[in-house]
Amino acid sequence: MTLLRGLMAVWLAFPWQAMAGQPDMSVEVQAQSRSDIPFDFEPRKLTSIPKGDFGDKVRRGYELFVNTQQLKGSYVGNQLNCTNCHLSNGAKAYSAPLWAAYLAYPAFRAKDNRVDTFAERVQGCFNYSMNGKAPALNSPEVVAISAYSYWMMMGGLLDKSGMANTPVPELTDTQLQLGGNDKSFALPEPIAQKLEAIGRQNVPGRGFATLPAPQSPPSPDQGRLVYIQYCAVCHGAKGEGTKMGGAPVMPALWGDDSYNWGAGMHRINTAAQFIFENMPLGKSVQLTPGQAWDVAAYINSQERPQDPRFNGNLAHTADAFHHGEQCFYGRTVDGVIVGARAPALTN
Ligand code: HEC
Ligand code: HEC
Repeated sequence: MTLLRGLMAVWLAFPWQAMAGQPDMSVEVQAQSRSDIPFDFEPRKLTSIPKGDFGDKVRRGYELFVNTQQLKGSYVGNQLNCTNCHLSNGAKAYSAPLWAAYLAYPAFRAKDNRVDTFAERVQGCFNYSMNGKAPALNSPEVVAISAYSYWMMMGGLLDKSGMANTPVPELTDTQLQLGGNDKSFALPEPIAQKLEAIGRQNVPGRGFATLPAPQSPPSPDQGRLVYIQYCAVCHGAKGEGTKMGGAPVMPALWGDDSYNWGAGMHRINTAAQFIFENMPLGKSVQLTPGQAWDVAAYINSQERPQDPRFNGNLAHTADAFHHGEQCFYGRTVDGVIVGARAPALTN
């Protein structure tokens, strides 16, 4: 028995070692069907962020979220900012909004039998979506982004429950990083009751909205035509984005400056949901669901930075981390193996 337990412990510990400090924190958030009863969440104005230590962290978190490029070279390896995918500074419903995310952590993950705190989930997006090396837990950056997310969530909920004049309670750094799905986390009473019924992890607006399944398998070839017609003007003929004076103006969709193969956006379904709802920017909703599926397949069949969990063998890595995903990593498209690119030497 003891031996068996010992073996189990080794087995459970193994994925951690294999991933060399890059655990899989970008597990899929299940898309929700659009709620009939909108949660009509609205964040407080930034000008209401309080003075003092706590407010400084919230402000810093906001700045990092919208201009993550200030961390380029230290924690960020591509040209993206968090808000490129989490639209409206992280407030937009069904664009993986921060307020709904904050309420959902800590989250238990059956897959590897562990609990992720909010801060750990933030680290996940640094490692994959930002193709970087996440700042440590308790670092000023992770605390600040947690503080901004908490502040947005709490301020909005207080307003919703007729407590518009109540300041957002200040939390310690440890509490901030934990997230709002902990028993110890108190919510305004009317909201607590409402969320009791639906569950803190299922707030309407969390993650992305489901899209009708495609009628035929999503086609990169068809998607290319959609891309040329609707997307290239902003995101560039080669998905490289556009820059002005060296600074990114339109984010890259593939290539060195984009998200890596471990990011949630590399999944065709996740990208299709995001694109259908939000792109072309300023003109949504313009595409049919079929076009969204096809263009998502197109951009996600292009090369991008290697999955940081890559272990030297594409088939093994695909099997270990991409099993059951709707993605092209490790598959062959038009005679070319996708994801075969060597890992970048620096990032
Ligand atoms: C008018 C310019 C414009 C057009 C056209 C446009 N986008 Fe975007 N796209 C943007 C901007 C700007 C952002 C970042 C949004 C932000 O930061 O608020 C973005 C973000 C994205 C993102 C997430 C960030 C990233 O780099 O991965 C994806 C994916 C995306 N667009 C795909 C598309 C697709 C597919 C099309 C065509 C159907 C399209 N876009 C058309 C401007 C545009
Ligand atoms: C390329 C697009 C992209 C960028 C850039 C990005 N994210 Fe994400 N993020 C996602 C997607 C997609 C998900 C949904 C996760 C999934 O289903 O895989 C997500 C999920 C999250 C979640 C959890 C949401 C939930 O409801 O569970 C948090 C928190 C988060 N991101 C924070 C950040 C932060 C902080 C940054 C910047 C450091 C960032 N993200 C940059 C695409 C992005």
